[in-house]
Amino acid sequence: MAKPTRICCIGAGYVGGPTMAMIALKCPEIIVTVVDLNESRINAWNSETLPIYEPGLFEVVKACRGKNLFFSTDCRYHVAQADIVFVSVNTPTKMSGVGAGKAADLAYWEGAARMIASVSTSSKIIVEKSTVPVKTAEAIGKVLRRNCPHPDVQFEILSNPEFLAEGTAIQDLTNPDRVLIGGKETESGRAAVAALASVYAHWVPAERILCANLWSAELSKLTANAMLAQRISSVNSISALCEATGADVQQVAHALGTDSRIGPKFLNASVGFGGSCFQKDILNLVYICESVGLKRVADYWHSVIQINDYQKHRFVEMVIGSMFNTVSGKKIAILGFAFKKDTGDTRETPAIDVCHGLIADDARLSIYDPQVQQDQIFRDLSMPKFQWDHPMLPNGAQVPFSSREIDRTVSVSSDPYKACAGSHALCVMTEWDEFKALDFDRIFASMSKPAFVFDGRNILDHERLRSIGFIVYALGKPLEPFLQKQ
Ligand code: NAI
Repeated sequence: MAKPTRICCIGAGYVGGPTMAMIALKCPEIIVTVVDLNESRINAWNSETLPIYEPGLFEVVKACRGKNLFFSTDCRYHVAQADIVFVSVNTPTKMSGVGAGKAADLAYWEGAARMIASVSTSSKIIVEKSTVPVKTAEAIGKVLRRNCPHPDVQFEILSNPEFLAEGTAIQDLTNPDRVLIGGKETESGRAAVAALASVYAHWVPAERILCANLWSAELSKLTANAMLAQRISSVNSISALCEATGADVQQVAHALGTDSRIGPKFLNASVGFGGSCFQKDILNLVYICESVGLKRVADYWHSVIQINDYQKHRFVEMVIGSMFNTVSGKKIAILGFAFKKDTGDTRETPAIDVCHGLIADDARLSIYDPQVQQDQIFRDLSMPKFQWDHPMLPNGAQVPFSSREIDRTVSVSSDPYKACAGSHALCVMTEWDEFKALDFDRIFASMSKPAFVFDGRNILDHERLRSIGFIVYALGKPLEPFLQKQ
């Protein structure tokens, strides 16, 4: 294929939006259009308030929007025009039918593939940007070929999984550790890989553009997420052991991380991992292992999720247990609701499970997050698990708490001091930097006594808090004598 001049991306979400904005910025001669069925999302991409919060994203979008970067709901027209079509739609966990609760639901992907086939009058490279199960390219290839009315139109499918992390997406896209491109080992497959590599070569050094076969590229993404999550569950499991023995998990993690074979990243003990990908991708990996008869391997990876659930559960038990075995009617301030700092994304955030655990014990919650709005928090707390990624709720899905129950027990504040005033405890759920700079003397003075702090991210200065008068619980840290006696 000659050098690509038109790129279209289906799916204007956390991945499609930032990745295409970066390609537009680095490749001014390529016209990049991001399309989505969701009109309000496209309108937001075309406005001054982008639909997602990501440091540095607005500047990149502003530099190219209206020049070589466009956002549109006219999916069919822009796909038909493109040389390369990225597919970056959601690939949620299936909620019903075969593989429910584990397998990836490829309905959105299949819908996109059928649409591509029906509108294409010229050959195209189709790029899997979404995280998909191994061998998806094979299935999608069949859908494309058998639904395209023009027999001379060829589709070459590539796997180009995205490794960006929310909160650092622009940094990750500007300077990626690697770009992985998987293609068929045929002449046309190699030509397609070269065409896509030529796009990234505008700014990514050649040695960081890795080529692989299709199945290796697909499996690499699932495995990368599983291994990152496994590090978090490993250190979280050790945090429980630290509490039982008087060791300090931060000291242990530091000692581990300075071993160059282990490295320091992803070793922070916390209330648990969240985000749209880790749990879903591990479940998908587990399902694939089970499907090919590898039960022991499936169990191994599933335990990463089990430790994550255990950690959230343990946190709730510690809050309730240390507050005299009941939080009924007590106000608890929740600082942070996003699944990590520098994003407004709440998908699979551990805060949801922790809040549910506290509401189940009849606590009154007062929540503050710098980037998450009240309607999002209320939606998250009254929605069944997995529904966030499924616009249609299947029959029989369990709603954990009714909207009325959430209205009665939860309030959302736009000021952290108001959220904490009159509370018996505050729980840090997200590692926002601004929490470290709060005036804790002021907060202590406004709280009921004894005033508890439960630091689910180990970001606060615990000694200072204790000197103010707080009773402090931090994950994987030696407990205060007060808590040890409980
Ligand atoms: P998202 O839910 O934010 O965006 C997906 C978008 O696709 C939605 O706006 C939806 O309306 C649109 N869509 C679905 N079907 C469509 C169709 N047929 N035509 C047009 N638009 C359609 O999802 P997100 O987070 O961007 O993830 C996309 C994929 O990338 C997933 O497979 C995810 O696992 C993967 N991924 C996500 C990362 C993240 O940090 N969020 C990182 C790396 C990969």
